[in-house]
Amino acid sequence: MRRTSRLLNVALLTACLAVLLARPDDARGQGHLTLYCSPQIEWCQLMIAEFAKASGIKVAMTRKSSGETFAQVKAEASNPKGDVWWGGTGDPHLQAAEEGLTLEYRSPRLGELQDWATNQARAAKYRTVGVYAGALGFGYNTELLAKKKLPEPKCWKDLVKPEYKGEVQVADPNSSGTSYTMLATLVQLFGEPEAFEYLKKLHRNINQYTKSGSAPIKAAAQGETTIGIVFMHDAVTMAVRGSPIKVVAPCEGTGYEIGSMSIIKGTRNLESAKKFYDWALGAPAQALGAKAESFQVPSNKTAPTPPQAPKLSEIKLIDYDFVKYGSSDERKRLLEKWGKDVKSLPH
Ligand code: F6P
Repeated sequence: MRRTSRLLNVALLTACLAVLLARPDDARGQGHLTLYCSPQIEWCQLMIAEFAKASGIKVAMTRKSSGETFAQVKAEASNPKGDVWWGGTGDPHLQAAEEGLTLEYRSPRLGELQDWATNQARAAKYRTVGVYAGALGFGYNTELLAKKKLPEPKCWKDLVKPEYKGEVQVADPNSSGTSYTMLATLVQLFGEPEAFEYLKKLHRNINQYTKSGSAPIKAAAQGETTIGIVFMHDAVTMAVRGSPIKVVAPCEGTGYEIGSMSIIKGTRNLESAKKFYDWALGAPAQALGAKAESFQVPSNKTAPTPPQAPKLSEIKLIDYDFVKYGSSDERKRLLEKWGKDVKSLPH
């Protein structure tokens, strides 16, 4: 009897060892990665498929907007579930860095990046890094505009005109990095009092505040709204896919994003996280954006900029103060003020 149970124990131990030896990475917790991804889902899916192929690491991925992902990383701080947060606007990544939610990491690839990407890293004491850039603007459905006999909007100031009542869609800046970029851009462009007067007028023309930043231009492509305020590259995607969407760089000038990447503090898969981070900064990984019809400007100097990407050098860009508008106090203050002074107003 005792001999049988000893034999059983040995067999059990051997089986466990076999499993451990067959999956050495898993056993050490280094063969998995949980990615929080904030750009377009198609790009997120391509990134994880290609990274898994290149590294043999299994990746679980959730796509959520930038503000939502920040809130999730913060809520999970005492028991982190994600390893890397890839993409999404830089402001909430900077806020996460300031609040100690992300980890300092200096990739050996930093030298391959554009200055705007490494400046972002320096500003966050290397707790984040720039992966792409893109300018804010809007797009409209040319067929709907013509059908409704509306004039072509060219400027921010056009969007608040009474003729566009119910014709404009934008995301909620609490969940969406795109919309927070709009809020911070208008404050920098017009000064805070005028920006908030503008946002109150814009509110009358808004038919819906969406959760995700690119949703308004998808809705415009389907004829559900005439105008969508979005990053210009997201409007380009819709035009490339054949929708009657015209992309506009607002005449007064506009803000831009430095899409960023951060390793989540408390990650249980640090080696996998670093492998992904280094891989995602490389030129071949950054070239995947165009394949997923995402037309941002890549941060690696040798990664090709897709020809369809809006030319940042030809757009009147403001000198966006990422340090100020990505700071915890300022982001919280502006979002609270928007909720109180703008969103609560009746239409
Ligand atoms: O759709 C891509 C994209 O516009 C990125 O360029 C940007 O970082 C992200 O989406 C912002 O998404 P959201 O506004 O939903 O946070």
